[in-house]
Order: sequence, then structure tokens, then C-alpha cells
Amino acid sequence: AFNLRNRSFLTLADFNTREMEYMLDLAEDLKKAKYAGYEGKNLEGKNIALIFEKSSTRTRCSFEVGAKDEGAHVTYLGPSGSHIGHKESVKDTARVLGGMFDGIEYRGFSQRNVEILAKYSGVPVWNGLTDEDHPTQVLADFLTAHEVLKKPYKDIKFAFVGDGQDNVSNALMLGAAVMGMEYHVVTPKELEPTKETLDKANEIAAKTGAKIVVTNDIKEGVKGMDVIYADVWVSMGESDDMWEKRINLLKPYQVTMDVMKATENPNVLFEHCLPAFHNLDTEVGKEIEKKFGLKEMEVTDEVFESEHSVVFREAENRMHTIKAVMVATLGEQN
Ligand code: CP
Ligand code: NVA
Repeated sequence: AFNLRNRSFLTLADFNTREMEYMLDLAEDLKKAKYAGYEGKNLEGKNIALIFEKSSTRTRCSFEVGAKDEGAHVTYLGPSGSHIGHKESVKDTARVLGGMFDGIEYRGFSQRNVEILAKYSGVPVWNGLTDEDHPTQVLADFLTAHEVLKKPYKDIKFAFVGDGQDNVSNALMLGAAVMGMEYHVVTPKELEPTKETLDKANEIAAKTGAKIVVTNDIKEGVKGMDVIYADVWVSMGESDDMWEKRINLLKPYQVTMDVMKATENPNVLFEHCLPAFHNLDTEVGKEIEKKFGLKEMEVTDEVFESEHSVVFREAENRMHTIKAVMVATLGEQN
């Protein structure tokens, strides 16, 4: 037997296949329990800190609702207001929060910070996104495909189309490696994953039988895939100056209906971590539209709104999977 109690959740590379599948199965169980109205209170009396140095809708709400459902209390520390990283080091903050809280979520810039928090707080720390990784996202992405396609995880093939150095793509690649899946990164030469991330994924893949492919060829890259995945072309924390360069590099990698058709799979799904620029009817979108004359970016509105798209099921599953991570690492019954 094994258990995940008191473990931190910093990157999927830290978990083996059984452990990751356990969290995915637990998320499915907790989702059923919530729907049926017999959910237990596995986190009764726990205090949880949520540190966000970047904006969030889904991740924050998932931690808050997930914690509340399970009986825990949360304290939100937003991008401004706390001393972390400004007037007080991450190491000192870790030791302070570790004395008050039973678990800590961290969304910020460097992966190093989330590692320092885990090392010095003495309580489970959960990575809510860094520049390099976004592990909680991947549990929701895999669960969603598994629910809809009704296939075992190892048989689901994902292709990420876009910025091959994106934090979500990195996380998907590591997660796919752990689960023994086939994962394609379809990206221009200039944006291929770093050697470090690829080596790490391939090292895991050698043990699990996963297959990791990096290609610049869209048609070849998406052929036979079960899920086409997109993310924004410029991530939080990257400079606004990047837009022009990324648009030029990634315009050919926009997920269109032709890309979906090139999978030759009529049941192919479309996933996106969100928020998505499938139209530019937002404050930031309008600025980009004005500057570059685009109407949509990483995915067309047609694909986003099509029957292939499972993005809102995926968003809901953020909550069930994040809840599972908290219950697995902090719950009394695990
Ligand atoms: N997908 C995701 O992490 O969304 P938020 O930035 O809204 O948390
Ligand atoms: N790559 C995106 C993901 C947002 C959930 C970002 O880091 O901004």
C-alpha cells in the first residue's frame, strides 16, 4: 500500500503512474460523491493558504470551493498586499505560514519558489502554476478526456499545438510520460521544448512506455490524435513585447477546423486550459486586435464552440481534481 499524505504537489515528475492514477480516480470518486450529495468532510478543521502572485479565475475558485466542500478554511493572499517576495523572502514566508497553515497553494513565477516553500514550510505545498509548470491543470485535462472518450489513460493520445515551451505543455508532457501516454508537441522550430524538460520526460517515458514526439509539421503531428490542445501564445509574466514575435511564429499553428480534420479522427476532442483568445472581445483582446488586426488567436471561435470542444467540462474538472490533490495529501482518511 502507499499513501500520499504530507506529500507536496510541485510537478507531476515527482509521482509514479500508480500515484497519479490514484489522484485521478479519487477526483472521479469525489465528483460522484458531490453530485450524489454524500460528500464527506475529509479536510475538516484544516487551514489552507492560497498565494497568488499572478491572476487566476479557475485555480483560485477550485481551491476555494474544493476546500469548502471538504470542510477546510482558506486564506487568500493576492498579488498585492502580502510581503512575500517583496519585503520578505520566500524562505521566511514559508516558515511563517508553515506555523499557521496545514497546506499552502502557490501560483507565481519561478518553480524554485514553490520548491523553497515546500522545503521550509513543513506542510504540503501545491503548485498552482509557475512559469515552467502547471501540474494541477493536467489532472483535469486527463480526467476530462478519460470521462468523455471512456478510454484507459495510457491509450489517450494528446497533441499540444502552439508554444512548445509553454508551462501547460511542459506539464502535459510530464503527465503523459508518467501515465505512459503518447504526447505530441506541435510547434515551430524556435519554440521547441527545452532540452531539460524533454530529457526529464523521456527519462520517465523510458520506464512507463510513454512516447513523446516533438514536430514542426502540423498535419503529421495531429494525425491519429484523440485530443488537440491549445494555450495562449504569450503567458502571464512574459512581456507584452512578445506578442508580435509569437503571432508571427504561431499564426500557422492556430487550431482551425482543418487542423481538427487533419487528425482523421471524427471523435477528436479540443481542450484548452483557459482563458482563451477564441475571440478578441475582451479588454486585452481588443488591444491585440487593434495592434495586429487579428480576430482570434490560438484557436478559432468555430473550433472552440464546436461539439469537439470540452473546455467547460475541463474547467469544472479543475475543481474536482484540485480537491483530490488536497484530500490525498492532507485528508485524514488517506
Ligand atoms: N487554467 C487556469 O489555470 O486558469 P486560471 O488562470 O483562471 O486559474
Ligand atoms: N500558459 C498560460 C496558462 C494560464 C492558465 C499562462 O501561464 O499564462
